[in-house]
Amino acid sequence: MPSYVITGASRGIGVSKSGSRHLSTTDRHQWGFVQHLSEDPSNTVIGLVRNAPPTIERVKNELPDRKNIHILQADLNDDAAIRKAATDTASITGGSLDYLIGNAAYLALYDQFDSPGELLAKSSHEVFTKEFHNFMDTNVLAQIFLYEAFLPFILKGKAKKVLSISSGMGDLEINREYDFDHAIFYSSSKAALNMVNVKFGAQYKKDGVLFLSMCPGMVDTGSFSKLSPTQGAKLQEVTAKFQQYSPSFTGPYEPVEAVKKMTSTLDKLSIENGDQGKYLSHLGTKRWLP
Ligand SMILES: NC(=O)c1ccc[n+]([C@@H]2O[C@H](COP(=O)([O-])OP(=O)(O)OC[C@H]3O[C@@H](n4cnc5c(N)ncnc54)[C@H](OP(=O)(O)O)[C@@H]3O)[C@@H](O)[C@H]2O)c1
Repeated sequence: MPSYVITGASRGIGVSKSGSRHLSTTDRHQWGFVQHLSEDPSNTVIGLVRNAPPTIERVKNELPDRKNIHILQADLNDDAAIRKAATDTASITGGSLDYLIGNAAYLALYDQFDSPGELLAKSSHEVFTKEFHNFMDTNVLAQIFLYEAFLPFILKGKAKKVLSISSGMGDLEINREYDFDHAIFYSSSKAALNMVNVKFGAQYKKDGVLFLSMCPGMVDTGSFSKLSPTQGAKLQEVTAKFQQYSPSFTGPYEPVEAVKKMTSTLDKLSIENGDQGKYLSHLGTKRWLP
């Protein structure tokens, strides 16, 4: 009976668009991690979300037969709520947890399409600093506290795997080689997250807990559906660089496709094979795009 906790289960990669193409772009986002993992009735799937009622309602409406799905409410930046979610998880599973998947992240358009200089020019230091903290507090610090809250139960689990959803944007080399000057905070937060997993991995290797950072590839979550002409132009520029990096790249995955690739890679990785603390793509390599 493997058990999974997934943060950010309300939308995006936490959810999938497949099978609901008649809905609007936003509404088409269904369960990705939650849908895929709960297909196996022997799995216990616990989704953490910031606002539980709408997600509970969607589970009831869209996956009514999946009695193995549990939705808990916790904002990653609310320490007490995260600790409560951990103890509630233990009540559901009987005291252990096999997989912790840190999928939620602060993703804002704020730095997505601007170079550092453009950001500094358009923001006061106050706004710049606030956004820096938004990215770092949620994508780095909150992940550490998430681990702290759930590790006692992971240590009692069988699989003992902690997966952070990172990004190729956290890779120094691709940013350097392709002159990616955009998304300074997002990229830095993911690079820092990768290091967090190395450090936790170093500490918990002796206890058999595997820590990993994994990029899902480029995934269509609808987040770029309302861009200004300038933002659209920057997106085209970046996409052209992606195509240069990977000429076989044909476009983003559907969320569930990315989830299937990541979970298949996750199944193959182990401390015994020397994978502790690795930062990999969904393909299990350092290729960020297929
Ligand atoms: N999509 C891509 O192409 C891509 C590429 C590389 C890496 N990634 C990574 O994949 C992961 C999922 O991204 P996505 O594209 O699915 O993003 P998304 O559609 O923007 O979803 C983000 C999720 O994080 C949750 N979240 C944000 N702040 C939170 C907080 N303080 N506490 C709890 N939950 C919070 C959101 O919850 P609410 O609904 O409450 O806002 C939402 O469920 C992220 O780690 C991202 O960096 C994505």
